[in-house]
Amino acid sequence: MKILVTGGAGFIGSWLVESLIQAGHTITVVDNLSPQIHGALPQPDVSWLNTDKVEFIRADVRDQKVMDDVLGRVEAVVHLAAETGTGQSMYQIAHYYDVNQQATAAMFEAIGTKHRHIQRVILASSRSIYGEGAYKLNDQIVVAAPRDANRLKSGQFEPVGPNGEALQLVATPEDVSPSPASVYAATKLANESLGKIFAEAYGTTVVALRFQNVYGERQSLRNPYTGILSIFSNRMRQNLPINIFEDGEESRDFVHVSDIVAAIGLALDKPLNGFHAINVGSGVATSVMKVAETLRDLLGSQSKLAVSGDFRAGDIRHCYADLARAAEVLGFTPSLTVEQGLARFCEWVMTQPVLEDRSEKAMHELASLGLGRTQS
Ligand SMILES: NC(=O)c1ccc[n+]([C@@H]2O[C@H](COP(=O)([O-])OP(=O)(O)OC[C@H]3O[C@@H](n4cnc5c(N)ncnc54)[C@H](O)[C@@H]3O)[C@@H](O)[C@H]2O)c1
Repeated sequence: MKILVTGGAGFIGSWLVESLIQAGHTITVVDNLSPQIHGALPQPDVSWLNTDKVEFIRADVRDQKVMDDVLGRVEAVVHLAAETGTGQSMYQIAHYYDVNQQATAAMFEAIGTKHRHIQRVILASSRSIYGEGAYKLNDQIVVAAPRDANRLKSGQFEPVGPNGEALQLVATPEDVSPSPASVYAATKLANESLGKIFAEAYGTTVVALRFQNVYGERQSLRNPYTGILSIFSNRMRQNLPINIFEDGEESRDFVHVSDIVAAIGLALDKPLNGFHAINVGSGVATSVMKVAETLRDLLGSQSKLAVSGDFRAGDIRHCYADLARAAEVLGFTPSLTVEQGLARFCEWVMTQPVLEDRSEKAMHELASLGLGRTQS
């Protein structure tokens, strides 16, 4: 197939493009090499672009002329390009709307009105659309309400039921009611809604893959707005203290990029019709403290792990994927454990330059807007 991969120079995109070429596809990448990801004078590692199977176009996905031209020449789209900072989205609201949502709307409009030959669109959605993860309350699966800032300030981090009941964490299935807690998440959910309506109206297959926390080799070690593994590992290599937010028991589903790429490949290949929203993760909840300890061991760092009680608006307490639908619809199961994936990640990190740490500045930006609390 001829496939457009937007954001194909990014972390997930770079691995995906490589894998799709190996599978025999021809790829067009549209990526503006955003300085926040790639640095001010981008010189990304694009060794995988040195093949006649990839056409690289440095352009913004909001550039409709470029998108129109490319959409006319491909049979499928994997739409990865996006702004990805949850915290940053809380004050760059219009920009996040523009890049993530408006550009996706324009792409669907172009496909529907001019490029009906396109058979399939894969959307990079996110577990963030759920807000808090799923919990059991009185034998029912519920998504916890967003956490109250006053409770967070007083160190009460676990979400509670509507009447203050204790909740039991469970894997989050796709059919719970979404409750995005950040502007970034809202743009991802809106794109899913567009994708569903579009699939039903135009007959194009649209698959929204709800990625959990993706990590791995080639992830941006520069972007201070996203990715605790980048922030932690960069600081650990300088033996700087690690600010563990909340009480460190908050957890995420960390999934290695190779599993994400495998899931996207399956979503392109499987005979599917209509709209599908599917979780992709490791299916395991790992606490931030556990990840920090594992990273510190693997990197041989002396960094102190300092539990600070800091928090950010839009952050959730726990969420991990229920992978039943991924297995049933895509035949997907993750292949790497978190321990195996982190070992690969750390081996790669040690080959990378140590960068100036900008995560504290990013946290202070949020705190100055009343969107988080920092004591440092
Ligand atoms: N990495 C994760 O943990 C994760 C989790 C859930 C969802 N996702 C989604 O997966 C997708 C890929 O994420 P990633 O981790 O590879 O991010 P990334 O930041 O490494 O890659 C995104 C790419 O998009 C490009 N880009 C940004 N704005 C653009 C624009 N206006 N026009 C053209 N290109 C633009 C960037 O230059 C970058 O190369 C995103 O949509 C993200 O929201 C990622």
